[in-house]
This record gives sequence, C-alpha cells and structure tokens, in this order.
Amino acid sequence: MTFERMPLEIWFDEHQFEVDYDIGESGTKFLTVKQLEIDLNEIQLRYGYHLGHPSLRKEIAKQYRGATSKNVAVTTGASEANFAIIAHLVGPRDNIIVEHPTYPSLYQVARSLGKDLTLFKLEWENDFRPDLDKLRKLIKSNTKLITLTHPNNPTGSVITKAELKEAIEIAEEAGAYLMVDETYRDLMFPQPPPLAATMSPSAISLTSMSKTWGLPGIRIGWAVAEESIVEAIRAVREQVTICNSSVGEAIAKEVLQKRSEILPVIRKAVISNYKIVEDWMNSQDWLEWIEPQSGVVGAPKLKRGGSTDQLCELLVKKYRTFTVPGSRMELDGHFRLGFGGDHEELIEGLEQLSKALKDIHS
Ligand SMILES: Cc1ncc(COP(=O)(O)O)c(C=O)c1O
Repeated sequence: MTFERMPLEIWFDEHQFEVDYDIGESGTKFLTVKQLEIDLNEIQLRYGYHLGHPSLRKEIAKQYRGATSKNVAVTTGASEANFAIIAHLVGPRDNIIVEHPTYPSLYQVARSLGKDLTLFKLEWENDFRPDLDKLRKLIKSNTKLITLTHPNNPTGSVITKAELKEAIEIAEEAGAYLMVDETYRDLMFPQPPPLAATMSPSAISLTSMSKTWGLPGIRIGWAVAEESIVEAIRAVREQVTICNSSVGEAIAKEVLQKRSEILPVIRKAVISNYKIVEDWMNSQDWLEWIEPQSGVVGAPKLKRGGSTDQLCELLVKKYRTFTVPGSRMELDGHFRLGFGGDHEELIEGLEQLSKALKDIHS
C-alpha cells in the first residue's frame, strides 16, 4: 500500500497562493467568518461527537427524505467520507468502478489502498454523459462499489433521475453499492435528480460544504447511507481524525439553517458568472468545450489538440492566473475553468487567458 501525492493537489499547493486571478478553483467564492456574522466566542474547543454534533446531523438529515440522524456521518470534508467508504466496503478481492474524470481522490484512494479499480470513462463524444450500457459491461462478479460524480468535476455533465435510477439498479443487480458524489447538486439547474440516498438503501450520498457554500476551510462534508455504513465510517475515522473541528461544525450548522436565505444569492452569482464565461467561450477561435450543464466548472480543450500544460504554466508564471491543466486530472488536452469565484476576478482572469492563448498560438 503506497500513498503518492495527487498531481492535482501538487498543482494547487504550488501555484494557487501565488496568483492574482483564480479561475481554476472548483467552488464558489470563499466566504469569511465576518461575512457570515457568526459568533464563535462561546464555542468550546473540545473533541466532538465522532459522527458529528447531533444537532448538525439532524439538520443534515432533514434534507434527505426518509433519513434520520442515524444515516448521517459528518466527516472532515467529503474526502474523508470517500476514504472511509472505500476502505470499508471494498475488500482485498473486491472490485470498485469509479466514473472518470472526477475529483482524483475518488479513484486515487482505491489505487493507494491496492483495490481492483475499473475506470468508467465519460467521453467527449457522448458530451461527457454517463453511458449506462457501458457501465453494465464493466460490472464484474466481485464489484462491490460504483461511484459517480454529478454535476461532474471537471466537465459539468449531469445525470438525470431516470439514469440515476438505472445506475442504482445496475449496482443492486451486482450486489454492490452506488455512491454518488453530489457536491455540486445544489448548483444544478433547473431541477436536480433526487438525492441518491433517498432512492435506495444501496445508494450512498456524498457531499461537502466546500464547493456550493464556499467553505472548504471549515473541512466539513458528510455521507448519508444505511446505518451499517455510517457505523463503519465512524470506525475508520476514529483511527484517522477522531472527530470534526468544533468551529467547522458550528459554522456548517448556522449556514445550513440559513440555507434558503443563502443559496439563492450563491446561485444568482453563479448564473451571472456563467453568462460571462459562455460569452467568452463563444468568442474563442482556439478553444472548444462541451458546455457544462451545472456546477461551477467546465473543461475546455485546445482546438488544435495537444497538452494544455504549457498554457496553464504560462498563465501562472506570466499572467498570474490560475487554471488547472487537464494532465493533473488525467484529462490531458483539456484544462479546468472554474467560474464560481469573484465576478471581477473572473473577467480579469479570462482576459489574461486570452493573452496566454494568443502567445501560444503565435
Ligand atoms: C467532486 C468533489 N468531491 C469531493 C471533493 C473534496 O471535497 P472536500 O473539500 O469536502 O474534501 C472535491 C474537491 O475538489 C470535489 O470536487
């Protein structure tokens, strides 16, 4: 078992803090404690409940029809829930199928833990949408877990309710679980499919406060699943993080309680940002993309083909602008464009991107 660094995270660690314009981040504009107007003074900085504070679990469970707090495991970001679920559900001789591309830890954890991993590839030719006939053919007799991410990072593709239902059926026929990373679901327009965990005991919902809510710094995510899985997550995390940050949990609870107030503001900002990106993309001679259907990321590629490494490095070094080369997400030829951040920064960042594109084409 060997843990290697993830190329995507190396890129972030090296470059995201040295730029002026970040148009590569995969979430909405980062919030500050001040903006949230949350009083943190009385929070006890003690160890917390290992599955998350009961009031937070209750608040989360409300969103999932048929679920109770017992179905909720609050974790250190969705990343920890993903790790714990793969570690628990996929045994040494079991197979895991991971939709690809996606946020790399979904497949990298499986690799690091030495699992039998099959990638279920989303293809440009199919608008990066999941081809469920193809998924069916990938099932093996030892498949225990299938994971999907929609809205997808980095392509912005979505899954319909009918497709989700079919994916659950495929998992159930195989005697496997289906885990859906729903991190961007609250940014799905106009109508998202049901939350996976509300559709079947074989389905697991995974999500996070990091993307839609602009709060990656609080490191709070969760899984909603049948109780045995929630208990397994507790066992894994007691050996890794023990519990969540008490400050993070308090912020998450406040924000979720104000969900109906905060979410429309975030969605409005994302729609307005997307209009800027859409117009900009429509005016590009050197780029093409499959238009993202939801979320805050898309994956353009160079019309002339070839790697985008040179473009993204030039952007960081000469134009102080951050995007993510596709090679860091096993999608070379593309790059990730994030449009969830600050409006002015997006406009300025796209201008820098135009300059860099001109440089590499002259
Ligand atoms: C689809 C997806 N899932 C999970 C994560 C990890 O999120 P967290 O910050 O909650 O660990 C990311 C981060 O980029 C992501 O894009």
